[in-house]
Amino acid sequence: MKALRSIYITLFITGFYVHNGMGGPVADPGPGVNVNVDINVGGGSSGGVSKPGPGTCNVDCGHWCYPGKDWPYTCPHHCSGSIQSPIDICSESATDETGSITFSPSYSVSIPKLVIKNNGHTVGASWSSSLEPRTITGGGLTDVYELAQFHFHWGCKDNRGSEHTVDGTRYAMELHNVHFNTKYGNLSNALKYVDGLAVIGVFFNVGDENAVLKPITKDLQYVVKPDAEKEIDFNQALADLIPTNRDFYRYQGSLTTPTCNEVVTWSVFKTHQSFSEDQVKSFRMLMDKEKEHMCDNYRGIQPLNGREVKLYSP
Ligand SMILES: *[C@@H]1O[C@H](CO)[C@@H](O)[C@H](O)[C@H]1NC(C)=O
Ligand SMILES: [Zn+2]
Repeated sequence: MKALRSIYITLFITGFYVHNGMGGPVADPGPGVNVNVDINVGGGSSGGVSKPGPGTCNVDCGHWCYPGKDWPYTCPHHCSGSIQSPIDICSESATDETGSITFSPSYSVSIPKLVIKNNGHTVGASWSSSLEPRTITGGGLTDVYELAQFHFHWGCKDNRGSEHTVDGTRYAMELHNVHFNTKYGNLSNALKYVDGLAVIGVFFNVGDENAVLKPITKDLQYVVKPDAEKEIDFNQALADLIPTNRDFYRYQGSLTTPTCNEVVTWSVFKTHQSFSEDQVKSFRMLMDKEKEHMCDNYRGIQPLNGREVKLYSP
């Protein structure tokens, strides 16, 4: 059980936004940062779902921790919505579609340096805004979406960690590549629109070492503490983190952390990647604000509520 005290100020989804040239990443205060809701004091539970008591880390949209079952109370505006993420993907019920995501050529160009940051909830990566944007389109996306950052969700044990599950199977880790719709200009502005974000999810299981992740996992030791960040040598192309089998599941959902905005077109790749036991352990070495090892940083499965899930194949 994770400890229950945390003060967290920056929304993680915006916390990695544009790394600004040679300066530090610009923390972009997106909508929701200043959202305050009534704090439910008194604790205890009613109706099967426990409400947060005083002194817990789930206080409002800016102060939250895992597990996320309290978020509908502490950050209700979006987190109690009806098209929330993640979901369990039922492969039998997925509708077949033809199409694939087109990655810009820049997605296959190596990025010399990344800035990795421990924000207390995950570790994320951003890079110089002077580089050519990495974008995606196609595969049912009618607009062009630009990659703003990527980050991970992982387990305390190898048999869990991913946010999405497929037919009930949970993977050891899930990568999220967060893209905003270029017609909205930037990530925080895009959070206001239902077609604002396109997030790619890639599953990882423990097995062979992942060479593309190696430059990151070997340097996680420099960002063990919350709020630590470090510029690292990367020299890898982000396209190489995506499975070569380009089949993916598509559905409409939300951010998986407060403020849970229902603005995400999800593309969850069917085929998983691998990374090594040493690599997953390097993620678990990271510390959160409760001075505990950061792991099991995934939200529970949300109701589908009749949403359609498609399986896109080339
Ligand atoms: C994002 O876009 C909005 C709307 O154009 C603008 O007001 C805001 O300043 C932009 N934020 C950043 C960080 O560029
Ligand atoms: Zn995520």
